[in-house]
Amino acid sequence: MNVAQLDSADSERSKEKGRAGAVINAASRPWRQSDLQRNKTVAISIDCFIRFALKPPLLLLSQSHCHDTILITRQWQQQHRDNRGVFLLRGAIRHSGKMGRKSNRAKEKKARRQEERAAMDAVCAKVDAANKLDDPLTAFPAFKKYDRNGLNLQIECKRVTTLNPLSVEWAFELTRANMQTLYEQSEWGWKEREKREEMNDERAWYLLARDGDSAPVAFSHFRFDVECGEEVLYCYEVQLESRVRRKGLGKFLIQILQLIANSTQMKKVMLTVFKHNHGAYQFFRDALQFEIDETSPSMSGCCGDDCSYEILSRRTKHGEASAGHTHGGGHCGGCCH
Ligand SMILES: CC(C)(COP(=O)(O)OP(=O)(O)OC[C@H]1O[C@@H](n2cnc3c(N)ncnc32)[C@H](O)[C@@H]1OP(=O)(O)O)[C@@H](O)C(=O)NCCC(=O)NCCS
Repeated sequence: MNVAQLDSADSERSKEKGRAGAVINAASRPWRQSDLQRNKTVAISIDCFIRFALKPPLLLLSQSHCHDTILITRQWQQQHRDNRGVFLLRGAIRHSGKMGRKSNRAKEKKARRQEERAAMDAVCAKVDAANKLDDPLTAFPAFKKYDRNGLNLQIECKRVTTLNPLSVEWAFELTRANMQTLYEQSEWGWKEREKREEMNDERAWYLLARDGDSAPVAFSHFRFDVECGEEVLYCYEVQLESRVRRKGLGKFLIQILQLIANSTQMKKVMLTVFKHNHGAYQFFRDALQFEIDETSPSMSGCCGDDCSYEILSRRTKHGEASAGHTHGGGHCGGCCH
């Protein structure tokens, strides 16, 4: 018969932990036949119990605080001591095992929650840091002008709070001119007040292209945000006046967003596009090689073909390294937010 002695060292260790008992992992130490014969109080691990097919009524036992070790508590001993001073194994083992597994699961769950919270704090810290920048374009002076295909434009990057309200109003009017019909053809409809609020929200950043007279001709509204547990640069709008289209400017603005997303350690650039906005769809999918994001309705399957839009994304180098490892976001259906 195999047993492990409940020794004083273990008792001391348990007392240090504030428990009235002792833990012996019998798997890690040989047990002594003589201890059993002398009717000593002993403990064994469940692992050993199973391995050596011990049968009741033989030894000891008690509740367990971890699934492979039996903990003998003084309280348990007092409650379960039989006339001979040993403890019945039957039932207790089974009970102990379950208790141990449950307790372990709870600990693992708690540890996982803590890990997720820490990861989410790190994600939010990156978004906060990006939002604290004065001008994310400072690091890329070459991208502050666009001098190609007959266009000679200055590019600036500003938070909406520092932008001239007239520029925001111009951006709103351009969006209305370009998009109202497309919105009306979708399940969203055109909601003027909401769009205006969205474009004036203090989290909004603007990339603005101005011509030689400082008149704006194109813009992108974007935000640093958390989407499904990941830090992302979300492009809310990219809108060009018709006279500056098909001259590479749209591509240039999206390239800038990609650079800014990289330099602020965002994981991806995201955007929403109507499927029936064929030109824009081709621009993003074919020319810029954006992918259908895993959170898009067509991917999550929650509304699929009924949705008139797709969520597209392109990972940054930070995003590529961690592709597939989202933290704490749970399920993020594209059409559910
Ligand atoms: C979509 C938009 C931003 C594209 O900007 P742009 O400066 O005109 O596009 P670019 O010149 O950079 O185009 C790059 C490539 O994208 C593709 N592309 C751009 N517009 C396209 C269109 N209307 N149809 C098909 N492909 C198009 C082409 O392959 C193009 O290369 P090419 O001109 O050498 O053929 C611009 O047309 C626009 O503002 N449209 C109205 C507003 C809008 O729909 N915004 C998108 C909301 S999600």
